[in-house]
Amino acid sequence: MLLVDVIKGIFNKPVKTESPGAHAAAVAVSGPAVLNVGGGNKKIAISEHYQNWNHLLLDIDPDGDADIILDARKLQTLAVGQFDAIYCSHNLEHYFHHDVRTVLAGFHHVLKADGFAEIHVPDMRGVMKHFIQTGMEIEDVLYESPGGPITVLDVIYGWGKQIEKTGVDFYAHKTGFTEASLMAALQRAGFAHVWIAESSDPFAIGALAFKQRPTPAQIALLGLPQV
Ligand SMILES: C[S@@+](CC[C@H](N)C(=O)[O-])C[C@H]1O[C@@H](n2cnc3c(N)ncnc32)[C@H](O)[C@@H]1O
Repeated sequence: MLLVDVIKGIFNKPVKTESPGAHAAAVAVSGPAVLNVGGGNKKIAISEHYQNWNHLLLDIDPDGDADIILDARKLQTLAVGQFDAIYCSHNLEHYFHHDVRTVLAGFHHVLKADGFAEIHVPDMRGVMKHFIQTGMEIEDVLYESPGGPITVLDVIYGWGKQIEKTGVDFYAHKTGFTEASLMAALQRAGFAHVWIAESSDPFAIGALAFKQRPTPAQIALLGLPQV
């Protein structure tokens, strides 16, 4: 098996496994649990509404502080229906277009029946529009991130600085989304109720996708319109 497929730990209790079957073990926690897919490390904040939740981080990168080290294309090797939410920020664009459906099917698999996925990706239409309208160059800086300047090239192909530093291609971007294409991908994956959320970031799209009609508690938590 690949080293990256080893589950490193759950809630600071390192669990090493040599058997792919061990991925199927359920995560035993009390209270709601969010799986942060492609989270990088826990210093990167997730949405405030998860502040009292159990937070498990899954990432392919063995050098981060992931609780579960796994390629997210293999989420279906985890136990079914164990998470209340998936949080996935700036990760879905790291898969080839045809692999996105496998990753989203994995989200659907690990979520409880009333679970939801929260997704953030670069807004390719917003970036392209800005690029054309301003006449900027492809290597020009689009915005400043906490890690440094982000160019148009970085948004399209992945953060060049990080790809160069690590030498690994899982930091490269392999696909991109518009609001409509993200919504369609989530619907095709079986999410029955999908919202494209208002984003304060002009170069990002946020989406909330539910397997079934959101509960009153979820509507209140996420500030959704009544359905
Ligand atoms: C741009 S970082 C996003 C980090 C964080 N979620 C954020 O919003 O800043 C992309 C993350 O996706 C992870 N990643 C890339 N390919 C992956 C894969 N196949 N499975 C799981 N994680 C992956 C990378 O290791 C990295 O931590």
